[in-house]
Amino acid sequence: MKKGPVTKKRIGVLMGGLSAERDVSIRSGLAIYQSLEELGYNAVLVDVGKDIMAVLKKEKVKLAFLALHGGTGENGAIQGLLEVLGIPFTGSGILASALAMDKEVSKKIFSFHGLPVAPYMVIKKGKKTKKSRTEKKESDKSGVFQFPDYPMPSFDLPWVVKPAAEGSSIGVSIIKEAEDLHSCMEKTFSHGRRLIIEKFIDGKEVHIGVLGDKVLGGVEVRPSLEFYNYEAKYTSGMTEYIMPPEIDEETSGIVESMALKAHHALQCSGATRVDFMIGEENSPYILEVNTLPGMTATSLLPKIAKSAGLSFKDLIEEMVRFAVKEEE
Ligand SMILES: Nc1ncnc2c1ncn2[C@@H]1O[C@H](COP(=O)(O)OP(=O)(O)O)[C@@H](O)[C@H]1O
Ligand SMILES: [Mg+2]
Repeated sequence: MKKGPVTKKRIGVLMGGLSAERDVSIRSGLAIYQSLEELGYNAVLVDVGKDIMAVLKKEKVKLAFLALHGGTGENGAIQGLLEVLGIPFTGSGILASALAMDKEVSKKIFSFHGLPVAPYMVIKKGKKTKKSRTEKKESDKSGVFQFPDYPMPSFDLPWVVKPAAEGSSIGVSIIKEAEDLHSCMEKTFSHGRRLIIEKFIDGKEVHIGVLGDKVLGGVEVRPSLEFYNYEAKYTSGMTEYIMPPEIDEETSGIVESMALKAHHALQCSGATRVDFMIGEENSPYILEVNTLPGMTATSLLPKIAKSAGLSFKDLIEEMVRFAVKEEE
C-alpha cells in the first residue's frame, strides 16, 4: 500500500451536528482528526451547525471527512449540500445514505435482492384531525398501517419496536407482552412519524465491515444487557466483542456475501458496517447497513479493520482514498 498523504486538499472533519447521536459523532470526529494530523494531512475540525456553509467557506474545506451519525448527517442531506458546493466527501452518496437511513425502504430493497429480513410491519402516525374517523385496520398502498388503527402483528412475540430512521439504538424497545405495544409505540413516535415493529430474532448478533468491493471481516457483539442498546454500545465493559464471530464457516461465508450484496444493493461507497442477527438453524437476518459507522479507535469498524491488518490510520487513509477516487 502506498504511504503518505493521498491528497493535499484541506480536509474538514465534519462532526457534531444536531442529531441525537451528536456526542458519539464528536468522539468519532476527534479520533479521525487526530489520525489525519498524524498522517500529515491538512485537516480542520468542523462542528456542523446551521452556519455550515459559511464555516466550510471560511475554513477553505476542499474535501469533507464525514464523522456525523444519524439525522441530516447520515440521511443524504449533508451529502446533498456538499455535492451542490462541489466538495467531495467520504462514504456513500446522497441516494445510498438516504436509502440506508430509512429502515422501511432499505428492508424493501433487501427483500427485492433476496436478502432475508425479519418479519416486520410499518406503522405511520395518523394525523390528529383524523383520529376519530371510522376504524380502519387496513394498510395503505405501500403496506403501511396507521396509528392508532393498526392490527396486531401476525408474527409471534417478542417484538422489536424501532423508529424508521434513527441510529445508535435510540428509541429501540423490546416488547414481550402484546398489551405493552400501544404505549411503546406512542413513545417511539417521539423519534419520527414512522416506526417498524419486527420479530425479535433470538440469536447471535454479527456485524460485518465492508470497504469498497471487499469484506474486511466481522465481529460478534455479545451485550450483557437484553440487546445492543445505547448503553451497551457506549459504556466500556458492557459488551463483549468476539473476533472472528463464533459462527461456523459456512454461515460466516453466507453473512459476508450478504453484507457485500446489501452494500451494493443500496449503492453504498467507501466503508459501511452491515448488521445481522443470526436466528435458529443459523439463518441470518439483515438489520441494516450503516453508511457512517462509529469511528472512534474502539468502534466496531476500526476493530474489524484491525483484524484485517488495517490500523485505524490505514483505515482513515483508505476512506480518504475512496473519496478522492469517487471524485475522479
Ligand atoms: N429483529 C431484531 N431481533 C433482535 N434484536 C434486534 C432486532 N432489531 C434490532 N435489534 C437489536 O437492537 C439493536 C439496534 O437495532 P438496529 O436495527 O440496528 O437500529 P440502530 O440503527 O438504532 O442501530 C441491534 O443492534 C440489536 O441488538
Ligand atoms: Mg444498528
